[in-house]
Amino acid sequence: MPVLKAPWSERNGRFSPLKAIVFAALFAPAIYILWRFASGALQPKPVTEMIHHTGDWAARLILLSLLVTPLRKLGAWPKLIAVRRMVGVAAFAYAFAHLSLYVVDQSFNLVHVGAEIALRFYLTIGFVTLLGLGALTATSTDAMIRRLGGPRWNRLHKLIYLIAALALFHYYLQSKADVSGAVLLTGFYLMLMVYRFAIKRLPLWSAALASVALGVSLTALLEATWYTFRRHYPFWDVLGANFDAEMFPRPTFYLALVGAAAILVMVARNYRPRLSLAAAE
Ligand code: HEM
Repeated sequence: MPVLKAPWSERNGRFSPLKAIVFAALFAPAIYILWRFASGALQPKPVTEMIHHTGDWAARLILLSLLVTPLRKLGAWPKLIAVRRMVGVAAFAYAFAHLSLYVVDQSFNLVHVGAEIALRFYLTIGFVTLLGLGALTATSTDAMIRRLGGPRWNRLHKLIYLIAALALFHYYLQSKADVSGAVLLTGFYLMLMVYRFAIKRLPLWSAALASVALGVSLTALLEATWYTFRRHYPFWDVLGANFDAEMFPRPTFYLALVGAAAILVMVARNYRPRLSLAAAE
């Protein structure tokens, strides 16, 4: 008979402060959204606002779950792995709340919801993303990991990279004129993807620098391409906006800032001062 463990317990049943803090923190956005709803701050369209907030958090949490592995290495925090599953499951919970709110918004008319998902491309993409997240959540239990076996489970869970890309695509497609929110999250995604590729080939320092530099540049290019094709803005003008003081701050600024902070953390956590011979004697 499998014993159910509390989310804040280690494998050996001991209390884990890290897991407890992350578990509580994952509820914070939901509590904040509900508090804003209850206080009337989401008027005049509270349900639409909640759809947007829960969608945002689902996408952010997917990216946060992808950040766990690099952060273990960059920040020399091996214990972080214990919270990756929790963050992934929370992403699914927010995505499910997002769909449920959409059902509420459509007056619980499930036939209409189904038809909209089938007919509107951005909703179809959202639905496929949700199914993918659901499959990963369902196979996240210890029993499922044992049943699938490590290598098969790992291969299946690599799908998270594709799922993250689909979530971002859904975000772009539903955006109106301004895609800054989607561009910002895409930037984090690209930085993580470059890091994943680079860390297998380069030393830690070079991989970290490459992921920030390439991630920011690729994001600027992608943003300019999107505006060119969707809005017919001149490509070079959009790219140039990244260097225009009047347009400050663009998403690339925040990406560079977070990238610089990550590099500082890496330096602080991985730097070991060499003792000079004189000091050692
Ligand atoms: C059946 C599944 C889904 C449905 C029906 C759905 C529906 C919607 C709708 C109606 C909007 C707002 C569009 C507007 O106001 O014009 C939206 C926005 C969004 N959705 Fe979804 N969605 C689904 C799945 C997902 C999933 C799985 C994710 C992420 C993991 C996600 C992330 C987002 C994001 C980030 C936004 C934009 C939020 C913002 O503008 O701040 N959605 N979705």
